[in-house]
Amino acid sequence: MHSFARHLHSEASEAQAKETKGLVLKGGWRYDLMGWFCDTFLFRGKFRELGQRTVNLARLQPGEQVLDVGCGTGTLALEAAHRVGRAGRVVGVDPGKEQIAHARAKAARRNAPIEFQIGVIEQLPFPDQSFDVVFSTLMMHHLPTPLKRQGLTEIARVLKPGGRLVIADFKHKQERQGQAARFHAGGSRIPDLEALVSDAGFQQVEMEEMQPPRFSAFPGAGFVRAYKS
Ligand SMILES: C[S@@+](CC[C@H](N)C(=O)[O-])C[C@H]1O[C@@H](n2cnc3c(N)ncnc32)[C@H](O)[C@@H]1O
Repeated sequence: MHSFARHLHSEASEAQAKETKGLVLKGGWRYDLMGWFCDTFLFRGKFRELGQRTVNLARLQPGEQVLDVGCGTGTLALEAAHRVGRAGRVVGVDPGKEQIAHARAKAARRNAPIEFQIGVIEQLPFPDQSFDVVFSTLMMHHLPTPLKRQGLTEIARVLKPGGRLVIADFKHKQERQGQAARFHAGGSRIPDLEALVSDAGFQQVEMEEMQPPRFSAFPGAGFVRAYKS
């Protein structure tokens, strides 16, 4: 893209990021530090396992084009880039300026050619049918329901026919027990996500659960995988 066009495009994305009704996170490296602390001392490694399971569900192939929506600090995108290799393409979008800055720094340190951009799920800055796989990890509970619907329509637009969508989210607070119910306020009812994905026209919609281990504050999680027809 010409640099003037790129400048206009990034100004538009920043304006959309300011207007979104999604809950935008800040923190950059502090988000990662908190994630590491929780996973090590409270979640018994389940947070890391959740990311691995999400990427495994997509069955990424070398050379594929991947989008991570609500990518935060880019940890999942880094794993995806490793799997698709140099022939592939990985893009991460998030409205959080600090999250994108930190994601870019992490990718640069690892020499990973990932494009991190400020952007929002409701207006993805990509042409139709650009990606083989779209991920959304732990971000659906950051959106009100109308925005989830709008975002899923956008994801369907940017996926190629036959492309895969993989969503992971914490379980809804009311579906958890013990310490896990107290730990994190956010979460989704996974059958509700499955219904929204079907309503957006996806096919072969499947759901999986990840139970919290005993004596852990991990909230439990669910995954939805679906295909664009
Ligand atoms: C809990 S974080 C998850 C980040 C990352 N996917 C992960 O698993 O660590 C949720 C992310 O959703 C982002 N978000 C909020 N509203 C959004 C929107 N409208 N479009 C895209 N991302 C959004 C937040 O800024 C935040 O980084």
